[in-house]
Amino acid sequence: MKTIRDFAAAKIEHRPLVMVTAYDAWSAHLLAGTSVDCLLVGDSAMMVMHGESNTLGATPELMALHTRAVARAAPEQFIVADMPFLAARRGSAPALDCAAQLLRAGAHAVKIEGVRGHAGVIRHLVESGVPVMAHLGLQPQSVHALGGYTVQARNAAAAAQLLEDAAAVEAAGAFAVVLECIPKKLAGQVTSALRIPTIGIGAGAACDGQVLVLHDLLGFNPDFSPKFVRRFANGAALVRGGVERYARAVRNRKFPAAQESFS
Ligand code: KIV
Repeated sequence: MKTIRDFAAAKIEHRPLVMVTAYDAWSAHLLAGTSVDCLLVGDSAMMVMHGESNTLGATPELMALHTRAVARAAPEQFIVADMPFLAARRGSAPALDCAAQLLRAGAHAVKIEGVRGHAGVIRHLVESGVPVMAHLGLQPQSVHALGGYTVQARNAAAAAQLLEDAAAVEAAGAFAVVLECIPKKLAGQVTSALRIPTIGIGAGAACDGQVLVLHDLLGFNPDFSPKFVRRFANGAALVRGGVERYARAVRNRKFPAAQESFS
């Protein structure tokens, strides 16, 4: 199993880190048999698994439920669980309670969006023995403040702020940072400036690693095709094809056959 030390080593050895989301036991079980470095129980579960239009409905209890399912099915994987909307904003004690819930459910680290106003909370968690992955750039929990899911830090002032935030999460003790939807040149600058690895999503190839939502990379959501996603499989066709073959077999009375029936 990987540890946070492997994240640091990967950066030193220029070995790209591979992170993928997992929300449930069956996909975690399949991912356990792959070479991915890390599973992310993202609060994107609210959108992917629960059909919401944003991540704000996630609660510590829901994230712990998803985390427990993933941890049961992939006990050898390094698991990061998202601290949900506002969980890091109410001060150190409630943040510790949430992190404890997620680590008791099987996570090895938590991920926290943003840093301005809660760098002290990140530091407190780290000093309490909770590894923290930071998340900068597009922060989906701030979707209403941002006015949508758009590329961030496109002007000089916002880029300078992001570099400052990146330095702040490293100083607070984060072991890695997700960079979401920022220009690739800026992601390269952050990656060079930090000792901790950067993990990009929509942040170009200069990051120390990449993360994608499993359902996006497998093509399970044919109606969702943002610029930064590449489909490595046609999951929608696979599912629909398999289910239609089953339906045809039932309607033709070809399923179940003798070998699928009890005598
Ligand atoms: O919730 C999530 O899936 C994430 C990734 C997009 C990085 O935070």
